[in-house]
Amino acid sequence: MDREVERTLEALLDERRTFAPPEAFAKAAILNDPSVYTEAERDPDAWWETQAERLDWFVRWERVLEWEPPHHRWFLGGQLNASHNCLDRHLAENADRVAYHWIGEPGEKRSVTYGELHEEVCKLANVLKELGVQKGDRVAIYLPMIPELPAAMLACARIGAAHSVVFGGFSAESLRDRINDAEAKVLITADGGYRRGDVVPLKTNVDEALTATPSIEKVVVVQRTGEDVPMQEGRDLVYSELVANASPDCDAEALDSEHMLYILYTSGTTGKPKGIVHTTGGYLTGVSSTHRSIFDLKPETDVYWCAADIGWVTGHSYIVYGPLANGCTSILYEGAPDYPDKDRWWSIVEEYGVTILYTAPTAIRTFMKWGPDFPRKHDMSSLRLLGSVGEPINPEAWIWYQEFIGGGRTPVVDTWWQTETGAIAISPLPGITTLKPGSATKPYPGVFADVVDESGRGVGPGGGGYLVLKRPLPSMFRTIYGDDQRYRETYFSKFGDDIYFPGDGAKLDDDGYFWLLGRVDDVMNIAGHRISTYEVESALVDHPAVAEAAVVGRRHPQEGEAIAAFVTPKAGREGDEDFAVELRAHVAKVIGKIARPHSIVFTDDLPKTRSGKIMRRLLRDVAEGRALGDVTTLQNAPILDEIRTKANSLQGDES
Ligand code: WTA
Repeated sequence: MDREVERTLEALLDERRTFAPPEAFAKAAILNDPSVYTEAERDPDAWWETQAERLDWFVRWERVLEWEPPHHRWFLGGQLNASHNCLDRHLAENADRVAYHWIGEPGEKRSVTYGELHEEVCKLANVLKELGVQKGDRVAIYLPMIPELPAAMLACARIGAAHSVVFGGFSAESLRDRINDAEAKVLITADGGYRRGDVVPLKTNVDEALTATPSIEKVVVVQRTGEDVPMQEGRDLVYSELVANASPDCDAEALDSEHMLYILYTSGTTGKPKGIVHTTGGYLTGVSSTHRSIFDLKPETDVYWCAADIGWVTGHSYIVYGPLANGCTSILYEGAPDYPDKDRWWSIVEEYGVTILYTAPTAIRTFMKWGPDFPRKHDMSSLRLLGSVGEPINPEAWIWYQEFIGGGRTPVVDTWWQTETGAIAISPLPGITTLKPGSATKPYPGVFADVVDESGRGVGPGGGGYLVLKRPLPSMFRTIYGDDQRYRETYFSKFGDDIYFPGDGAKLDDDGYFWLLGRVDDVMNIAGHRISTYEVESALVDHPAVAEAAVVGRRHPQEGEAIAAFVTPKAGREGDEDFAVELRAHVAKVIGKIARPHSIVFTDDLPKTRSGKIMRRLLRDVAEGRALGDVTTLQNAPILDEIRTKANSLQGDES
């Protein structure tokens, strides 16, 4: 294991307190009998069937699992509809229950009931049909966090079209690539959205993206900001006008369990993002099961808030499909946590009596930095459970979260999963599991995880290595859109075609608890978002004055990792502050603001092996200001001293 991982581990092991489920919590919990683990281990298919039975099926499945490595299919022969499961089946008893309390960043409030959401979805589904969208087609969605976003996803699901949601922070180019890869027919977007008081110009990005997207026929535009945006005659249509004229009757299509529900793009180790394909029956089974058990969800009384963006998988699974399938009331907040002030979230918790909060360590560390006075201003006694996702949570942040947000009473569930797994795979069950701050604890019932060495052998308690899943989960992706070969190579070749390799390092402690240690590939985790070093390098060398670039992730106190770039300018271009500013803007344009390098070091050369391969490992040492690892294969040693001097002068501004 490398030194970096060892260091993380040392820090983790400093915090040795454990937290058994509070007695009252355990007593009232949905799951409080550990036999759920042994039962699921004994007969995982039977366990997943009980979870699938919580859904409404038009036709029951004939077979639970068909596993032909590396492919797996679930609930074969079954038919259902995700939109029906998220909406229609709640109407008889709970049409008036609020699905989303929506809060716009500038301060608007709108509560949408299940009945209202159902009507909106049916109308929009009819609109899509009128625009020519058919079962199996792809619809791109590029929207801010407004109720129309889940409505658009469910409208697609209702008619069997797959949605591809593109995060609103992505650039025009990123949007274009995703539209083209999926060959989307229709795009649903908005004039703009709000972020920290500014308007995000979504429609401007769309117009730029659509200059080269031959598959797009129509664009449906939600008027969110009301700004005057150009509308292209014959292509662009106003959402509210279309919906106002649409019929509220639209039957949910009976779809095969394996029908494609959505594509969601995520960064891989090459430049081209991967279109992760999720299907209907298994995915919905996994997300609704985990959402209920891990968040101990009581839909009648809980007010649940997953503070992610729907543009990422966390929002797909735990703002839209899981919570709606379980019929619960969620918060949907459009904007930034510090707008207008740093207590915005806590004022929402107080006002709506939020009981469950699910967020990322990067947010928690930012709140830590802002200090406990902001949460202290509000009565947050309604909170009874906290969750964490997206990156390893350091024990200090875990304890702070529990203490200052959870009032010292709430369990904290650290949940490990990925875009690919679709649903949480390793996590405590809060009524059963004794928590260890920093550990995601144990695989969810029905999940067979292990930590193995390079040869694929289990390392056993106390050992470290690679995380693997030895059996598929129903919620797991089925392939990479249009590139099944890449699916095989990326995930099912390292240890054999029946062992899923997620790309994470992990350690097992003596109690068999899993400690996730971050990515072992060239994917960085920036504020809980996956960005590959290669993507950022490609964006940098795309600039006409860049000769060469190397990118590595370096530790960052709030964001987990920061992007450190090393750039060789072409002859004639000065590597000065102006150029750094220009390059950051260029990366924002090519990928999106989240991928902008935090630091750029200009250098005449990069450390390379004799065969010309850039030694990123050494750059990582430099970026983190530590002693260099093995330099024997380095060809141009003196360049490292030069780079190091420059890099040192850039640090120290980030606490
Ligand atoms: C990391 C987000 C440690 C991990 C749901 C994984 C975590 C990647 C955790 C997936 C956690 C996610 N502890 N690491 N609790 N949760 N990760 O696809 O490296 O955006 O591979 O899915 O985030 O990121 P993705």
